Amino acid sequence: MCGIIGVLGSHEAAPLMVEALRRLEYRGYDSAGIATVQDGRLDRRRAVGKLVNLSDLLVHQPLAGKAGIGHTRWATHGGPEIRNAHPHRAGGVAVVHNGIIENFRELRADLAADGYHQESDTDTEAVALLAQRELDRGATPVEAANRTLDRLEGAFALCFLFDGEEDLIVAARKGSPLAIGRGEDEMFIGSDAIALAPLTDRITYLEEGDRAVVTRAGAQIFDAGGRRANRAETRVRLDSARIEKGGHRHFMAKEIAEQPVVMADALRHYTGGGTHRLTLPEGLDFAATDRVVLVACGTASYACHVAKYWFEQIAGLPAEIDIASEFRYRDPVLSPASTAIFVSQSGETADTLAALRHARDKVARVVSVVNVPTSSIARESDLALPIMAGVEVGVASTKAFTCQLVVLALMALKAGLDRGRITETELAARLDALSALPGLANAALSLSDPVARIAGDLAKARDILFLGRGAMYPMALEGALKLKEISYIHAEGYASGELKHGPIALIDPQVPVIVMAPMDGLFDKTVSNMQEVMARGGKVLLLSDAKGVEAAGPGTWQSLTLPAVDPHWAPILYAIPAQLLAYHTAIAKGTDVDQPRNLAKSVTVE
Ligand code: G6P
Repeated sequence: MCGIIGVLGSHEAAPLMVEALRRLEYRGYDSAGIATVQDGRLDRRRAVGKLVNLSDLLVHQPLAGKAGIGHTRWATHGGPEIRNAHPHRAGGVAVVHNGIIENFRELRADLAADGYHQESDTDTEAVALLAQRELDRGATPVEAANRTLDRLEGAFALCFLFDGEEDLIVAARKGSPLAIGRGEDEMFIGSDAIALAPLTDRITYLEEGDRAVVTRAGAQIFDAGGRRANRAETRVRLDSARIEKGGHRHFMAKEIAEQPVVMADALRHYTGGGTHRLTLPEGLDFAATDRVVLVACGTASYACHVAKYWFEQIAGLPAEIDIASEFRYRDPVLSPASTAIFVSQSGETADTLAALRHARDKVARVVSVVNVPTSSIARESDLALPIMAGVEVGVASTKAFTCQLVVLALMALKAGLDRGRITETELAARLDALSALPGLANAALSLSDPVARIAGDLAKARDILFLGRGAMYPMALEGALKLKEISYIHAEGYASGELKHGPIALIDPQVPVIVMAPMDGLFDKTVSNMQEVMARGGKVLLLSDAKGVEAAGPGTWQSLTLPAVDPHWAPILYAIPAQLLAYHTAIAKGTDVDQPRNLAKSVTVE
């Protein structure tokens, strides 16, 4: 949460920082700000709301200087107001921060007793005040930053910029990621490599507890024990085209449309370049595993929920699912022979990372399924399986979800094979069916126009229900989540069979009910539940294949016909109409599709 940029450059820093913050806006967009040092003088500009407001401000009140720090905020402590926007400044120090300083109340009281008073409601301002107090006590800037960092509890990524210092930024990482980029006589700091992509591809990731004293000559990195540390520099090539909208109106539209390609990439990556051999990483063996425990947040947790059905049905392997924020607080009973699987697009979600750390010594193996292979979750796992989705910018996850499903499906097949539940021949047939998905997904994308026509009506609804059975139940949950995230319409997903145990009371002609029912072994049962809705005046939108739409008979309000698909893999295909429904409904309502209110793409606070 919150994006950080730091620049010690040879050109004006403000435009570079605004551009980098644009790439980091997925982390939050409640306010933005930058600070620079010019002719030895520290100054800052801050604006509430999206980054565009800061760029507008800079047109009227430019900020010169080649050294600077910048921030885009997702509010935690203190509302989205100008006084709470970063950089926070106390005298000669400016600070940008991602994370939460947990002992800020105690620090604030200590500072106030000494006459250092806060102007904002944030936890961050205490950091700037602490550093200023150290400067007042005679410390050098680096000493002031170090003594300040020694006092902080919680999770943070921080950058300090000092009055009179045009060639110094002190950076620190504890719990929240931070990357250092090297240019030609220039140095950069960013929350991630995406922010730094146009500036440099030479990236060094700080490790947990690291502090860095950065000047244009390079970065001196110190580990948590204060010893000089060597951190490897890697070349991180991010195709900038993948970070642009590519002719689409929104990132979400582009990312929905990319799914056939990226799903095929993921399949190729893990099936011997398309030769139908499973080429999952060495060491991913489920023969001795007694259960899998799948943990994630948000959309990724619904991918886990679908995978539970696959591990159980295909591999006969008990599978438990947990929401990461609940996992460690309920003292889960973990078997030492189990495999824990953590699924995360960003690989930085604080709750998922904390859950991983909680499980690490209690299970046989920690495996992660991530989109960012350099992320904390990937690096702290025994095995990390990248999902190959490419950079996902839209806050509502789309292509990462379907790629997560593809990788989890392959893992379930591997488990089936390892445990003798499926033969090589069955595996080949399942892989065949799976490899048809990119083509089927392409066909499903043609539903965009019919969905757009239905969306006008959906946009008028106050509540919408999604129903599904079996592995389509988590898809109903995901369909509802997508819709509420970006259209702000209240939506709920239910297991179709559960309808009559309560939710049926909600049915009236104003509540659209979206039924996700591919032609599978559960189809007749789902259709019966659909009939129960229609008998009570409910208006049903049926998602099925041609046979299903025909078999369901008349009486539905609308139907959308998908290609027929192997029932096992239907959840992957049905993700697409669910995404299109959310997208077009949001368009019809005029909401902000890529940056819905109150949300952030990467949630690095608990
Ligand atoms: C946020 C995003 C969701 C995402 C969830 C988990 O809430 O808005 O789209 O599903 O975090 O993120 P992760 O990066 O761990 O998959």
